[in-house]
Amino acid sequence: MTIPLLWATPPSPSPSKRGLTLEVRASAPAKVILFGEHFVVYNQPALVLAVDKRVQVSARLREDQHIHIRSSNLGLSAIFTEDHFQPQRRGKEAHRRLEPIRIATQKILDISGEKVGVEIEISSRIPVAAGLGSSAAVSAAVAASVSRLLNLQISKEKIFDITLEAERFIHRTPSGIDPAISTYGGLILFQKDRGVTPLEIDVDLPLVVGDTQLKRSTGDMVAEVGKRREQCPSVIDPVLKAGAEIVQSAIQALKNGDLPELGELMDINQGLLSAVGVSNESLERIIYAARNAGALGAKLTGAGGGGCMIALCPEERLEDVAQAIREVGGTAFLARKTDDGVRVEAT
Ligand code: PMV
Repeated sequence: MTIPLLWATPPSPSPSKRGLTLEVRASAPAKVILFGEHFVVYNQPALVLAVDKRVQVSARLREDQHIHIRSSNLGLSAIFTEDHFQPQRRGKEAHRRLEPIRIATQKILDISGEKVGVEIEISSRIPVAAGLGSSAAVSAAVAASVSRLLNLQISKEKIFDITLEAERFIHRTPSGIDPAISTYGGLILFQKDRGVTPLEIDVDLPLVVGDTQLKRSTGDMVAEVGKRREQCPSVIDPVLKAGAEIVQSAIQALKNGDLPELGELMDINQGLLSAVGVSNESLERIIYAARNAGALGAKLTGAGGGGCMIALCPEERLEDVAQAIREVGGTAFLARKTDDGVRVEAT
C-alpha cells in the first residue's frame, strides 16, 4: 500500500503556532513642507511639519507566501507572488501605486527570514499625489506593522531607510524629506547630507491646507526644476541659496513665535517656487484667495504643479481662509502639528 504524500510529510506549523502575532495596525502622519521643497533636492535645508491626518495600515499573516495589498481609498488591490503580479483592476495604476508597498513589505520579510505571506490593508485620510507625503506615510506604516507582525524589533532609522527605498520606485531621486517626517513626526530641519534635526520649538502653527485637486507626479516636477537649472544655473543657483536663507530666518521666527514674520517668509518662498517653475494658475488662485481672506502668508507645499498649498493664519481667520479657498474651486481643511511619527496602534 502506498501512503499518500500528504500524510507522509507533516504540514509545517502555521505562523500562529510559531508564536507570530495575527494582526497588527500601524499609522503614520501626513506632512506639509513649510519651507524649502525642491531646493532640498539640491542639498539645501528644508523645514517640514507632521500634521494631524494619518494613514492607517493593517497587516495580517497569510500561510502562502503571497503579498496581497488592498487600498480602499484608491480602489486598488493586487496579489504579488514570487514571480507574478495579479492586479484585481486597473493593472498599470495598481502596479505603480502598490509596488512601493510591496517593496517595503518584502524588505521586512527578508530581514525576518520568515517564509510567510502578508495581507496589507490601507485606509488613508491623506489626499494622494497632492504634496502631503501620503506614499511615504503608507510605506512607513507598512514597515512598522509588518515588522511587529513578525515579532521583529526594528529601529526608526531602519524604517526610514526602507521607506526611502520604496519612495525611490516612485520619485526616482527623492531627497528623503517625506520618509523622514512620516517616520519621526514633529517639526524637522532636513538636509540631505546632514539628515534629520528635530526642532523642539513650542509654537502653535494654525494652518489651512488648500488642495487644487490637480494630481501631478513629484518625479516630473523635480525633473522640470532640474531642466530649468541646467538651462540657467547662474540664475537658479542664487534662488536656491535664497531658499536656504529663508529657512534660517524661519527657524529664528519660529523660536520667537513671530507668526507674521513666518507668513511673510512663506510669501517670499512662494515667489522663489514660481521662479523655478513649479507654481501654476490653480495654485496661485487659491494662494491669493487665502491671502485676501486674512492669511499671514501662503505658499504651495510639496512638489507643486497642482496639489496643495498651505496658509498660515491668525486663529480667528482660519475658517474664513478655508471658505475663501473653497469659493475659488479648491478644497480645504485645517491642520495642526502632530508629534507622533510612525506608530503601532494595536495588535
Ligand atoms: O509632493 P511631495 O509630497 O512628494 O513632496 C516632494 C518634495 C520635493 O522636494 C519636491 C521632492 C523631494 O524629494 O524632496
